[in-house]
Amino acid sequence: MSAGPKKLWGGRFTGAVDPLMDAFNASIHFDKRMYAADLIGSMAYSKALAKNGIISEQERDELVAGLENVMKEWEAGAFELKPGDEDIHTANERRLGELIGPLAGKLHTGRSRNDQVATDMRIWLREEASKILAHLKELIAVITARAEKEIDVLIPGYTHLQRAQPIRWSHFLMSYAWLWQADAERLSQLIERINVLPLGSGALAGHAFNIDRDFLAQELGFRGIIHNSLYAVSDRDFVAEFLFWASLTMTHISRIAEDLIIYSSGEFGFVKLADAYSTGSSLMPQKKNPDSLELLRGKCGRVFGNMSGFMMTYKGIPSTYNKDLQEDKEPMFDAVDTLSGSLQITAGVLSTMNIFPEKMRASLSADMLATDLAEYLVRKGVPFRETHHISGAAVKMAEDRNVSMHELSIDDFKSLHPSFGDDVASVWSFETSIENRNAPGGTARCSVLDQINKMQVWLGEGKTL
Ligand code: ARG
Repeated sequence: MSAGPKKLWGGRFTGAVDPLMDAFNASIHFDKRMYAADLIGSMAYSKALAKNGIISEQERDELVAGLENVMKEWEAGAFELKPGDEDIHTANERRLGELIGPLAGKLHTGRSRNDQVATDMRIWLREEASKILAHLKELIAVITARAEKEIDVLIPGYTHLQRAQPIRWSHFLMSYAWLWQADAERLSQLIERINVLPLGSGALAGHAFNIDRDFLAQELGFRGIIHNSLYAVSDRDFVAEFLFWASLTMTHISRIAEDLIIYSSGEFGFVKLADAYSTGSSLMPQKKNPDSLELLRGKCGRVFGNMSGFMMTYKGIPSTYNKDLQEDKEPMFDAVDTLSGSLQITAGVLSTMNIFPEKMRASLSADMLATDLAEYLVRKGVPFRETHHISGAAVKMAEDRNVSMHELSIDDFKSLHPSFGDDVASVWSFETSIENRNAPGGTARCSVLDQINKMQVWLGEGKTL
């Protein structure tokens, strides 16, 4: 084993490191994607060092110019990784040294990779989370637009996957818009919690040169600083929260995927995915599979895995930084990538999918109006508990005779309760049933349009809701 290139922390280490350990220890192959955050952090840090007189203004300018050149190399795909580049922090500093000489050695004054990595991750994640939020809002806009356009389409509403009551298709669509709207609010709040600054906390005990941390926060666009250095370097709650957020949002995606997989089956035939989001079978020529939806449902498990895996790592860590924490990045990266892709694919599926309103309507049946029949009697003054029972008897009568409920005669109904009149025929309208549910939040046209309107105001940043 050769001594190899000089290590950043090599001073007191004399023995060579097992090359397997070197590879095991390294995070560069995944944390290099934070190169920009790392360099931006170092530029601000150079300025803070100069502001305190720890380095001169000329040294600051040379450091910043050098860091800018390192950035250009990354952007041009010209940055060359070398053996010994353990992580993105060591790689950037090594390259800076090659470009500007020994002055690069002043950059890390008072700083540790512990406060550095926590800062890089927060810079990186707040930016990615904002992009994800934009994708999520786009998805909400797509489903809301669809709900507005297809307001007149009726479908069976289900509980227990049993046909329950007629509803508007738009009401169903908007139920997911609301789940995602809450996801969007949660993510906005989370971005605020991500956006506080650990830098200037040193390895754990604080900064030895009284660096101006408020200045650093301002330079880096943080809303404030973290007020305890031990907490600053070891807190990864923002990662845990993000992973939970991602899991919950994927759960909502997975649930609509499951609904649409069912609705696209031959037995239902309510919807048909665009070719762009389905595939054929290599064996059965007639098949058209909803692969996009199945992948969305499947990827939910993957994101959950990221969350639970990281929580297991996180739970046993003593104060403060421990190398276990290096295991925070891959789940975070993977969740960001999965969410980013999933949100865009879901929007694509929803904006291109065909619906079959006649099939949907044909699935409605008179028995789904049994509640309306009970409500008819309620409007005639009969107590609901009683009407529920009477309507149940009508359901049974129709079942026994193998006819649809609306085919029972007026006399049949009158035999069940004297309050039934000729106007009972008015119950057998799906539209009436739907329009009766006109309290806010219901499936009546005006209630659904009101929801749509509230969502559109919110999407246009008019808030309220
Ligand atoms: N690559 C490390 C990580 O991702 C950076 C921090 C290393 N700090 C240390 N004391 N070894 O966590």
